[in-house]
Parts: sequence; structure tokens; C-alpha cells
Amino acid sequence: MAKAKSVFFCQQCGYESAKWLGKCPSCSAWNTFAEEIVTKEDTSKSEWRQSASRQKIVEAKTLKEIESSAEKRILSGDQELDRVLGSGIVPGSLVLIGGEPGIGKSTLMLQVGLMLKKQKVLYVSGEESEQQIKMRAERIGLDSEQFFILTETNTKSIFLVIESLAPDIVVVDSIQTLFSPLMESAAGSVGQVRQCAAELMKFAKETNTPVFLIGHITKDGLIAGPKVLEHMVDTVLQFEGDQHLAYRILRTTKNRFGSTAEIGIYEMLGNGLREVSNPSEILITQKDSSLSGVAIGATLEGNRPLLIEIQALVSPASYGTPQRTPTGFDQKRLNMLLAVLEKRCGFRMGTQDVFLNMAGGLKIEDPAIDLAICIAIISSMEEISISDKICFAAEVGLGGELRAVNRVEQRISEAEKLGFKEIYISKFNTKAFDSSKFKIAVKPFGKLVDVFQDL
Ligand code: TYD
Ligand code: MG
Repeated sequence: MAKAKSVFFCQQCGYESAKWLGKCPSCSAWNTFAEEIVTKEDTSKSEWRQSASRQKIVEAKTLKEIESSAEKRILSGDQELDRVLGSGIVPGSLVLIGGEPGIGKSTLMLQVGLMLKKQKVLYVSGEESEQQIKMRAERIGLDSEQFFILTETNTKSIFLVIESLAPDIVVVDSIQTLFSPLMESAAGSVGQVRQCAAELMKFAKETNTPVFLIGHITKDGLIAGPKVLEHMVDTVLQFEGDQHLAYRILRTTKNRFGSTAEIGIYEMLGNGLREVSNPSEILITQKDSSLSGVAIGATLEGNRPLLIEIQALVSPASYGTPQRTPTGFDQKRLNMLLAVLEKRCGFRMGTQDVFLNMAGGLKIEDPAIDLAICIAIISSMEEISISDKICFAAEVGLGGELRAVNRVEQRISEAEKLGFKEIYISKFNTKAFDSSKFKIAVKPFGKLVDVFQDL
């Protein structure tokens, strides 16, 4: 017999408590506890498949006895997604795709589902009607015999369909719309989100079927509800970008089967998302006349070299404290670079407002971008334009010295491929490779001041 029990969940972080609390002991948020009724079923009954015959006898295995699944990744045909997942979809994996409403999560998953012509895909939607999904598919211009749509939110009914259809891949859009009859709280509450995800996880692991969960995140960056899922799922993908700009970035914040450093770049067009395989081309504006305040940095995102345009605007501060406003770059690091420019290179930064912008809405954490940032700032301040055939790749130290960066050869060859004529790097990077094999002029320097003198 099912037993009903009332539990309190923090709606922010998912902390569970038997009684109501004013302040959450886990995330310190106030007044976030809400009561949810949990109906505990007999735990011997698997939620997603009630037949007792499915109960397996468990036993421990040695590594040798376990079949390797490394070779069996499913290629989605979308190279950006495959790379971000770590070269393909892993069977039995649970992947969470988070992003703000309207960013293109449904479009991405619909597109991927329709491209997978060899696999039977079940697209469960609790957000849109069948007609709406069909219209969207027509807009994208793809069709597949193996693509099935189910508009249902009750997990029990969903699993019934899954059992008869036996799909190879399941997409759930979105996890916040599902509800499990085992809980009495409303769809979208923390308890429901967690319960539904747990049921889907069990299904994924037992049948070795990959499951994609779409989750909405709120404006402040928290995956409301899905935040509590991050530790349950194998991979967390974040779909980002400005709703008003065409470029979208898919990045991983957690991946049990690959690196979290990889990113995928898409462009939202009228007929769906286009994969951007050479991002450097979009990150550098094709400008005719040289503008001041622009420098190009050779960075790496994951394993991929990226040449990115950095724009800086320096102007005298009109109010007491000057503003330092970076977009896509760490504020503290910008302050440090400004201090280095002031102290080690003799520029008067103290009375200047500094605005910094990374092209394409990217967030760059690679320290090799430091030199290009310093150059862009001084270029704007002194009104000197930097030739668009020059790029930079070096970290700047507190002493104003240029420090070596990783995989410098890869950065140089990418710059060469894109037609740059000169690249400035740290002199400590030159020992690692033979610069004579490049057509591009490699210019090694030890100090930041010397670079300004040379330009
Ligand atoms: P959607 O996938 O519905 O976003 P999410 O599921 O993350 O909420 O994307 C909706 C936006 O994408 C909407 O503003 C329209 C736009 N869009 C295009 O520009 N081109 C297209 O081909 C499609 C399908 C959508
Ligand atoms: Mg959607």
C-alpha cells in the first residue's frame, strides 16, 4: 500500500527536511521551503517498469567481465554537439541541457533528433503541441521516419509508451513540465523535478538508452529546479548566448565522459541552427579601415584554437571613481592588468574609464588573452590602430613580464591559416618549437613595455 508523507524542500537548492525551516541550512536562502507530498511506493517495484519479473539478481563483477562501451558512442551528426559531449552520445547517459527560455534548446534537440536517421528517437514534449513541433520541423526542413513525438507530462504514461516503442534515444522537453504520480506536488517543484529525473535516470541506466533532459534556467543563471539535478546527471550542457544576437554557445559544465573545456558554436538562422565550424571567422569582423582599441588574441577553447577580436574603449572618467566594465572577461583580472599597465609601463590608467568586450559574446578564461587585452586598451587610450594582420598570445605577469602559454604551436598555426602576418608571443615559449617552419613572423618578447615599443 502506498504511504503519503509530507516533506519540505528548499525550492532553491533542493535540500530536504522533515519540518519547515525559515533558513535553508544548505544554501542559506530565507523562506524557500515548501511542503510537498511524497507518496512512497513499495520500493521493490521499479517505477518505470512495474513487472516484478524485471528484477535482476545483482552481483559484483571484475573490470574484465564488464563490456567496454567506449567504442559504441552514437554520433549525432551534429559535430558541435558530438565534440561537446566528448565525441558522441554515450549509451545510457543522462544529459541535462540548460538555458534561458527562447535560446534554442528545443530547436537544437529537434534538429539533432531529426538528423539521427538510424536511431529511433522519442521526443517527449510537455511544452508544445504536436502541431507546433511539426511546424518547427518544417521550418528546419528535416524529416525522419524514425522520429516520434509524444505530448505527455505524466511519467507513468511516458514509460508505457517507451516500453512499447523501445526508442534508442529519448529527449524530454522540459524536465520542469513532467510530473510523477508518485508525488503530489505540482510539476516544476523541486521534489517533482528530482523524482522525474530519478525515474528517467533509472530507465537510462537499466536499458542503456541515452536520455536528454531540457531544463530552463532563470535569469540569474541558476538552473531553478534543474540545479538540483546537476549531481544526478552525467553531463550538464549549457546553451548560452544573447537572444538578440545570432550566435549560440554550447558548453559543458560537467561531463563524466569527456572534457569540460570544449565548446560548440551555432548560428540561429531562419531555418534552424547552423554549426559554425570555423569560429575565428565570425569572431573577427572584416573591417576595412583600422579602428583603434581593437586587438586580436589567439586563444584556445578546449582543444580548439580561436582567434578572437577584443575591443576596448578608454575614456577619461567623468565621475569620481572610474568604471571598469569587462564583458566576457574577469573583472579582477582586468583590474590587475590595468595595475600592471600603470605601474610597469607608466600609463596613467587611474583616471580612465575602461570598457572591454569580447567579440561574439564569448567568455574567455584563457590567460593567453592578457597581452591582446593590454594592447587593445593602450590602442584605444593612445588612439593608435593596430594592424589587423597582427595577433597576440601571451600571459602578462604582475612584473609586466610576458609568460609562456600552453600549446603555442597550435595557436600560431591557426593564426597562419587565417592569414595573419605576425604573432607576438612570450620569449619563454620559443624553446618549445622551431619558428622557422612557420610562414607567419613569430615575434618573441620578454616584457610588455617592449611590445609597445615595437608596434
Ligand atoms: P526554442 O528552441 O523554442 O527555445 P527554447 O526551447 O530554448 O525556449 O527557440 C526559439 C527561438 O528561436 C525563437 O525566438 C525563434 C528562434 N528560431 C529561429 O530563429 N529560427 C528557427 O529556425 C527556429 C526553429 C527558431
Ligand atoms: Mg523550448
